[in-house]
Amino acid sequence: MNIMLIGGGGREHAILRSLKKNPAVETVYTLPGNGGMANESVCTGIGATDLDGIARFASEYPVDYAVVAPDDPLVLGCVDRLSEMGIPCFGPNADAAIIEGSKAFSKNLMKKYNIPTAQYEIFTELEAALEYLDTAPIPTVVKADGLALGKGVIIAQTREEAKQAVTEMMAGGKFGKSGTTVVIEEFLEGPEVSVLSFTDGTCVKPMVSSMDHKRAKDHDEGLNTGGMGTVAPNPYYTDEVAQQCMDEIFLPTIRAMKAEGRTFKGCLYFGLMLTKNGPKVIEYNCRFGDPETQVVLPLLESDLLTIMQACTNGTLEQTEVKFSEKHACCVITASAGYPEAYQKGYPITMTAEADAHTYVAGAKLQGDTLVTSGGRVTGTTAVADTLKDAITEAYRLADGVQFTDSYRRSDIGQRALQA
Ligand code: AMP
Ligand code: GLY
Repeated sequence: MNIMLIGGGGREHAILRSLKKNPAVETVYTLPGNGGMANESVCTGIGATDLDGIARFASEYPVDYAVVAPDDPLVLGCVDRLSEMGIPCFGPNADAAIIEGSKAFSKNLMKKYNIPTAQYEIFTELEAALEYLDTAPIPTVVKADGLALGKGVIIAQTREEAKQAVTEMMAGGKFGKSGTTVVIEEFLEGPEVSVLSFTDGTCVKPMVSSMDHKRAKDHDEGLNTGGMGTVAPNPYYTDEVAQQCMDEIFLPTIRAMKAEGRTFKGCLYFGLMLTKNGPKVIEYNCRFGDPETQVVLPLLESDLLTIMQACTNGTLEQTEVKFSEKHACCVITASAGYPEAYQKGYPITMTAEADAHTYVAGAKLQGDTLVTSGGRVTGTTAVADTLKDAITEAYRLADGVQFTDSYRRSDIGQRALQA
């Protein structure tokens, strides 16, 4: 069986390795893929948002199944397009991917169906937003409505900061069309938990919980990034909290989407905050998280392809989704300067041992040499019986990944260890 995997980051590398554990998988075509995936897949170089290119490829190559991993192609309707061509897909249609594509949509959905989330107001006029901020409780959270490469959320500590953020979004064209509508919401506090789930639109099966580390620097300082490391499971996510989330958040969300005529199939990601008033939704993503996937899939004991197909076919209820009881830690190695300006083109060396545990994100082949091409370059994952051992081992393995001006946080997993 031949699979088409849309995307080209560390998350896709983790999905690729997981899919290839199934002996029925022959060729995986990655669109675009990256230099670090070239030994394990056919990298096509076709961009993940090039829907025409993707459709053309699907009509010319023997593709039996497609996995659409990133947010942009999902929101643009990549699954709709491939499904119309008769190719079964893992991922939501565009009308369901809107749960991530529009924060105004997701906030209104949660309000309508009583799903716990931060209090909020939606604005389409700058004047009204500025007036609201004169009296809004501070700190406050300003969010661009649409996709903004993970940079569309501003936690404002002062009114001035909040006003500057909405002005830049609504009048300054920051984030383009994504920022012309903004959500201003209540600032919530508590431990954050990521829960990815498989769903066929009716049944929902959560994966093992995880914890991201979004800030660039140790002790959660520095700028927000796409994520500098992850651990799974998340120690704050107890069985009791998991049950509460299932009853109050996961099932109600799946049912709400169905009731809205927007049945969601694929991976629904719940970004949660465990507040003193119970778990609340911070955000939904219509896809696997990055770098959450790099710790979650290595703990999956069931077959990923079988589960994905069950999501597509509506048979998830009778399909086993089993995770190991072990712990995983993923340490990202980034280019110094990320998430701001950084150099590219440095050769990457990896020991064979590190290579086997490393997912490549921002790298390309120059001749036969793998060189850096992005901010987050690699993610190295270790699995062990205890969290402490997983952390130690992930750092030991990551030391086998080297390039000029590489940068890692040194405290991935420490907060979880102290929990
Ligand atoms: P996002 O880009 O949507 O993943 O949000 C980035 C980060 O902003 C989240 O991981 C949270 O840490 C934080 N955040 C988002 N919304 C809130 C909120 N209402 N209260 C506090 N922190 C928030
Ligand atoms: N790690 C957070 C995300 O994938 O959005």
